[in-house]
Amino acid sequence: MVLSRRTFSAIAGTAALGLSLTGRTGAYAAVTAPAGPAPGPAGADGKAHTVGFDRYSMIVDGGRVVLWSGEVHPFRLPSPSLWRDVLQKLRAHGYNTVSVYVSWNYHSPAPGSYDFTGVRDLDLFLRTAAETGLYVILRPGPYINAEVDAGGFPGWLTATRGTARTADPTYLSYVDEWLTAVNRIAVRHLYTRGTGTIVLYQLENEYANHVTEATGRAYMAHLYRKVRADGVDVPLFHNDKGRNGHWVPGSFDTSGERGRWLYGFDGYPSPSEPPPDWGYFGIGGPKGGSTASPETPGFLAEFGGGWFDPWGGVEFGGKGYAESRRTRDAAYERRFYLTNLANGIKAHNVYMAFGGTSWGWLPAPVVYTSYDYGAGLDEGRRPTAKLVPLHQIGYLLQSVPELAKLDRAEDIDTGAPGIKAYHLTNPDTGAHVHVLRNDTSAEAVATVPLAGTAVPVPVPGRDARLLTTGISLGRRTLRYSTAQPMLRLTTGRQDVAVLTGRSQEATRTVLTCAGEPAVTVLEGNAGYAYEDGALRVDVPLGGLTRVSVTGAGVSRPLLLLFADDETSARLWRHTTPSGPVLVYGPALLRTAALRGTTAYLTGDTVDEADLEVWAPRGVAEVVWNGNPLRTRATASGSLRATRRLPGAAPVRLPGLTEWRQKAENPESAPGFDDSAWRKADRTSSFSTTPLPDGQPVLFADDYGFHYGDVWYRGRFEGAADATSVSLAYVTGTQGLLMAWLDGRPLGTHRMPVPDRKTVRQGTWSATATFPVTVGASGAHVLSVLVRRMQHDEDLRANDTHKAGRGLASVAFDGATPAVRWRIQGEAAPDPVRGPLNNGGLYGERNGWHLPGFADDGWQPAGLPRSDRVQGVVWYRTVFRPAVDPGTDASIGLTLTDDPARAYRVQIFLNGWNMGQYINDVGPQHTFVLPNGVLDTRGANTLALAVLADGTTPSGPGRVELTLLGRAAGGVPVTRVHSPGWER
Ligand code: GAL
Repeated sequence: MVLSRRTFSAIAGTAALGLSLTGRTGAYAAVTAPAGPAPGPAGADGKAHTVGFDRYSMIVDGGRVVLWSGEVHPFRLPSPSLWRDVLQKLRAHGYNTVSVYVSWNYHSPAPGSYDFTGVRDLDLFLRTAAETGLYVILRPGPYINAEVDAGGFPGWLTATRGTARTADPTYLSYVDEWLTAVNRIAVRHLYTRGTGTIVLYQLENEYANHVTEATGRAYMAHLYRKVRADGVDVPLFHNDKGRNGHWVPGSFDTSGERGRWLYGFDGYPSPSEPPPDWGYFGIGGPKGGSTASPETPGFLAEFGGGWFDPWGGVEFGGKGYAESRRTRDAAYERRFYLTNLANGIKAHNVYMAFGGTSWGWLPAPVVYTSYDYGAGLDEGRRPTAKLVPLHQIGYLLQSVPELAKLDRAEDIDTGAPGIKAYHLTNPDTGAHVHVLRNDTSAEAVATVPLAGTAVPVPVPGRDARLLTTGISLGRRTLRYSTAQPMLRLTTGRQDVAVLTGRSQEATRTVLTCAGEPAVTVLEGNAGYAYEDGALRVDVPLGGLTRVSVTGAGVSRPLLLLFADDETSARLWRHTTPSGPVLVYGPALLRTAALRGTTAYLTGDTVDEADLEVWAPRGVAEVVWNGNPLRTRATASGSLRATRRLPGAAPVRLPGLTEWRQKAENPESAPGFDDSAWRKADRTSSFSTTPLPDGQPVLFADDYGFHYGDVWYRGRFEGAADATSVSLAYVTGTQGLLMAWLDGRPLGTHRMPVPDRKTVRQGTWSATATFPVTVGASGAHVLSVLVRRMQHDEDLRANDTHKAGRGLASVAFDGATPAVRWRIQGEAAPDPVRGPLNNGGLYGERNGWHLPGFADDGWQPAGLPRSDRVQGVVWYRTVFRPAVDPGTDASIGLTLTDDPARAYRVQIFLNGWNMGQYINDVGPQHTFVLPNGVLDTRGANTLALAVLADGTTPSGPGRVELTLLGRAAGGVPVTRVHSPGWER
């Protein structure tokens, strides 16, 4: 391989920088010229590897790698078996990297206590990522944001001294505890060590507020030193909130290490605006183009592949995530991601690739349970149509290495004012890349100079396309194509190239050929001609068109496959040690392994599907999901199954009947024994919410109660003349307070349903005033239940996660009794389901949500119900689905009722808190029940805790299982340990 002078100096710089960290000599091989597809990660192969970068791209083991990453949160999928499912789907759809936040609160019920077992098994997640062949970007915070409670900070941290996200020593001591715990696992999975696939590691997240202050710089330097001291030797980075140029190399002390710190930033542009230019075509300066950090590659540590939705569905006009997926559809992804590519971004992370579920008390107040995000894979793990462009771009980046090193080239005039044209070139190979984007709503035709020819290229309205010239297709070179290249590989005795576009599009593809080749149209419509040293192939896209090109002095035949969008998403490339395999037909290819003359494939079908395999030479048999298939060799050089693969079996879900019901809130009764409750008598707090004068601190966090509902009982004497009581409280959006005096309901107060503006204002404090008739003097009890809706995030690093939660103060009109308070929140955290599973309802404290709870004394009940009570009523039933063992059924629980009814439901499946339904707010009606937590072939306990205002009749109304999707295949699912009730 011959290196150009330019390539070599870029590499030499990187190598020198690499040495300063590792001390290893020769750690960096020269960057290999782009000859073949970039290798996938070797997985945990026991060998040492190098990870570095230059100004163009990441450099792994000396080769350029464009990271095409998808964000997945293990904590949003509490069924470790399904991690493999999601990761395999990512990998199959073209991602080579997964990016993961690790949420401190999920792992830490108390200071000094860190749990990485069961659904929190980070080690297993990282192992699975390596086994799947994905690189990992690890993002353990300490602060992550991510629409989780307190932005990932543990509940207990909200009640500690010191300002978070600064160099405050108390805060740093807790941070070190966390990092020690998480890094103990991380270092076992570093790609550099050959024991895992972590290639990048993020410090903090969107840390924008103390950038110029000494405390901010000291904090970042502390994190840097700590993570290095723990043995993390891959490049580190930060995720800047927008391209502000915050935390670029040199902006804080990285212990003398140069070249081991990258600049990363994020962007969530509005789909209704043109995509921003954040790189080569940007405005320059720290906010603009590649000048923000000229020595590190363009790195979008998060780019919105969807958006989150607040309670009430206010972001999407009440329509929920279907609307997010509609406004950020496939064409959106093409316009925005191709713009990013054009801007020189070489490490991309789609946030989210799979959103999942903010189950239990995980969601920050700003979101409801579903974190579907409108992502490519929906919350039920099903691929959606918007995966198509991600699939195409992912494969493209991995098989066209020319794209890993691009410079801006001279602007072109396309003659189409509505079209924005980007022109780039690879300085080593001379390949050219054009990205054409149409921000208008009507199709426009650009005229593009492609390899010396002015070629008309139509671009549909609000869409984009990428064209290339001069890229290698193996033994032959693509002069140009108006179709977008998707992948190329050499398999068997031939080169294969796939080109894609919208269905029905007319495409022209021109290959450089010294002599006239033999051309065979194997399938579909194609016209071709040879002229002036070039073969021209014209194909109207539809299904899979196959054209074989042989001869004319080139020893290896080339199979051109033209696939429209839908077809392209059924083409799967998989790497095996004996070479790549290309599979066409099924809904998913999970794994491919070659042993002897047999290709062993696993994957999914939904409907019946064809199966065709291009495999290395010598492969003659195909086994699909363990079943040997009869195949025949095709003229395309593949093996095709003579029978279609069967589709998924039907799934019939049982109805939910035989409910039992029991009311609770005995805490509201005057005689309730609260002697074991904590006295609320503290006089100081680290909360940022001001304390009332002359009253004890009532914030729940100060008494060790951090999640969900919290009860207060206040005793006082006298106050016979009181006319009203005012209860000040703080929650988060959708919080509420209900009160009883001497067992009589006083009423319920709710925080207003937010609108677009208020949803992001974090305070949510209010005062509920209820008229009272205390009557006779003597002893009285005021019982108060507060549904807290979690801690605010700390977006601006000003401790907003420490805003109080729960009751703040109490005042009477007409009397001034001294109230002696006791408080009770959640019981000790569930050791299996974790600290965020439960709040402090009576039923939760006593195991009413658990399988096996003795509910035989409860009253039989039929749904729908229509009761009018203030307080909490539980419903339990057991159901037994009988899903065929070979079927991956995705099942949800759907609740519906008259939206005027003011009640909410916490849903417990086998003791796991699967989320909160608010009947009169919405927008969520269907709650995903992940397999593993759900036993698809056994008994499941469903428990609903219904909290009603008493102002309207309350439900539950209709409660039923919903089939979200089904596939034949799936991954083996181990039941998630779900301990039951013990007396
Ligand atoms: C980003 C942030 C993420 C998440 C996202 C919105 O700015 O880094 O943690 O909050 O916004 O979903």
